[in-house]
Amino acid sequence: MYQVGQEEIDAITRVIRAKALFRYGVGHECERFETRYAKHLGVKHFALAASGSNALAAAMTAVGLGPGDEVIIPSHTYMATATSVLTVGAIPLIVDIDETITIDPKAIEAAIGPRTRAVVAVHMWGAACDMNAIMAIAQRHNLIVIEDACQGVGGGYEGRKLGSIGHIGAFSFNYYKNMTCGEGGGVAVNDDVLAERARCAIDPCHFYWQGRNDAVKPFSGNGARASELMGAMLNVQLDRLDGMVQAMRAEKKTILEATSSLGNLGLKATPMNSPDHDCATQVMYTLPSADAARRFVALFPSVIIGKTGRHTYTEWDQVLMGAGAAHPAMNPFNMPANAECRKTYSRDMCAKSLEILDRTVMVATHPEHTAGEIADLIHNIGVAARVALGATPIEEADLRNAKPVDVQKFDLKLDA
Ligand SMILES: Cc1ncc(COP(=O)(O)O)c(C=O)c1O
Repeated sequence: MYQVGQEEIDAITRVIRAKALFRYGVGHECERFETRYAKHLGVKHFALAASGSNALAAAMTAVGLGPGDEVIIPSHTYMATATSVLTVGAIPLIVDIDETITIDPKAIEAAIGPRTRAVVAVHMWGAACDMNAIMAIAQRHNLIVIEDACQGVGGGYEGRKLGSIGHIGAFSFNYYKNMTCGEGGGVAVNDDVLAERARCAIDPCHFYWQGRNDAVKPFSGNGARASELMGAMLNVQLDRLDGMVQAMRAEKKTILEATSSLGNLGLKATPMNSPDHDCATQVMYTLPSADAARRFVALFPSVIIGKTGRHTYTEWDQVLMGAGAAHPAMNPFNMPANAECRKTYSRDMCAKSLEILDRTVMVATHPEHTAGEIADLIHNIGVAARVALGATPIEEADLRNAKPVDVQKFDLKLDA
């Protein structure tokens, strides 16, 4: 979810007119955004990258993950969380989520073995993981915590911003995120050396542009440098972020309050780890069964979380097939260093997650929803819930202005 308007067009036009498309020595938009977003997050460093996938791999490179390491990840996340582990030569260990739709701390603790070095906390759909529990487990077992905050732009956990709580965080600014520049991402971190390593992973030549740092030895990597067009757009997007999230939180609160009585029928607000701080791009409900969820979305345009087609481990073909790299010798699944890592996957290995995901639905909010549109949503959620849960016959379903499902609405508001 994001908003775009004339301000973004003006900012990009200025960069093009100045012929200042390169971030080092030519333009200053990327650097300005990095400084501003680091301040927004409350971290010392933010390093822009070309995508969230690049940012995740750079974060894992920065903390030194590689062959011989297992990295715990949740069963429900975009596949880049898993593939970035493979990109650095390590092995993803997939564990269950709980009803919050985020990684289950109990599943993390149960999965830890002698080779486990890190865990990725993914804040799915803008909802925070149980960071207190995860950080405590990490401390007990000496694990690195990487926050995948790609879907958590603008969100928080108990007052701290998502992506700023673990040892390192990664963000995405792709088309579907709360701030976008088309494609983009970045790494958030406090530690100076980790920041330098992340910058090297993002741009192995960054020492040339930004000067050498004797504390960090350069290493080889792929290029994922951001352009000034991205920086310019993100600077405008950052100005919009807080207002947008506040509006969505207010809408979510109104909807949840107005639909709370449906809990008696079986439509329960999905439990959240930090209910007042999420991005609130979605209102999530947990139903008693997959059949009830199917009936709910059949009537009222909304999404069953387990059916998005790309966010559940059963969709990650490369991982399930053991295709961890294009070249067999670079495939972490074949590497002798990974011989002792656990790497057997099956489609039913996280059956508990699938069961939860198939009975959890989400309804999209939008910062520009009018009071009338919100009232219609509330009415329609009630109608769909009563039919789905058997309290009202389908013939009596009187939906109001139900629009086709629109999880990420693109709003281009032009002056002329
Ligand atoms: C949870 C999560 N992690 C990682 C990514 C990867 O980001 P990108 O698409 O910018 O590479 C995404 C993007 O959708 C995501 O949702």
